[in-house]
Amino acid sequence: MINVTRSFMPPMEEYEEYLKKIWDSRYLTNEGPLLKELQKKLEEYLGVNYVSMVTNGTIAIQLALNALDITEGEIITTPFSFVATTSCIVWERCKPVFVDIDKDTFCIDVNKIEEAITNKTKAIMAVHVYGYPCDVEKIQEIAEKHGLKVIYDAAHAFGCRYKGKSLLSYGDISTCSFHATKVFHTIEGGACITNNKEIYDKLQSIKNFGSVNGNYDNVGINGKITEFNAAMGLCNLKYIKEIIEERKEICETYDKILEGKVVRPKVVENLEYNYIYYPIILKDEEETLKIIDALHKEEINPRRYFYPSLNTLKYITDKENCPISEDISKRALCLPLYNGLTKEEVIKIGSIVKENIK
Ligand SMILES: Cc1ncc(COP(=O)(O)O)c(C=O)c1O
Repeated sequence: MINVTRSFMPPMEEYEEYLKKIWDSRYLTNEGPLLKELQKKLEEYLGVNYVSMVTNGTIAIQLALNALDITEGEIITTPFSFVATTSCIVWERCKPVFVDIDKDTFCIDVNKIEEAITNKTKAIMAVHVYGYPCDVEKIQEIAEKHGLKVIYDAAHAFGCRYKGKSLLSYGDISTCSFHATKVFHTIEGGACITNNKEIYDKLQSIKNFGSVNGNYDNVGINGKITEFNAAMGLCNLKYIKEIIEERKEICETYDKILEGKVVRPKVVENLEYNYIYYPIILKDEEETLKIIDALHKEEINPRRYFYPSLNTLKYITDKENCPISEDISKRALCLPLYNGLTKEEVIKIGSIVKENIK
């Protein structure tokens, strides 16, 4: 079975070295030495001031909202993302206000943001879809004009650099997922990334029950991550260059087979990409389902990612029309992409897709 993704595993001996350290120190969690080491290494790798690691990319979004004191009101967001982007907003008792996406980049359409702003709007939560950057300059300009906070759900953007700096360095806070299936992983895990010390201090406090020097001055939760997760991150970070390089080669093989046959996200200038996903946009839903079926017959599992468009979720009561997102989500498919996927397998997958295109 070829799945859409498969976790990268570092050499087991390297993980075992860290396990010995954990056994000796008996420091299992609570911002232990391995976590501190990893956060520092991530700050260096990303070139950002602060990385606060947390349990996963979902909690990261919830903590980001709380750290910015957004506990009510409207949040402008995109309907074309994984469900967590929207569900976190609803979970925090805020209202997601959906703005449709750009038809070429699949990120939020910045030209439609201002018309969605009301006196209840608190923030813009945009997503760097598939690791491709939003129009970060325009979003910043709008946010400053209207006094809004900016959170990037950058779950896909680890390892992407835009205009010479990490894509995670934009916005008031960027959140990231280090889930087992991501380019860089800590099994489960995530982070809030910020360049602002005050926000960082708040994040560090609220992920730890709201503690401030032993006093519980903030309302907090438990968003901590263990030393075992940090150890996996330390092992994997060593290989990040090779991981991205190998994924790039896989994508280039897909490109050769599928060029001109499918729609791909628009090429972005000044982007060093992480090759996290290989999304293709097909002609219509019928063709998409036909290709899924043909791949399943060969025990290959692509993923409808993202589907459905989040403005259509059952628990969204104020339904807004987002025709572009609704259309793209019916035609988007991510093809298998992971370290260790062989060239023969990529050619086989690409050829099945090509043969089933109308
Ligand atoms: C865009 C986006 N946001 C948030 C998440 C949630 O991350 P996690 O699975 O680490 O909670 C994901 C997970 O894939 C995602 O794709």
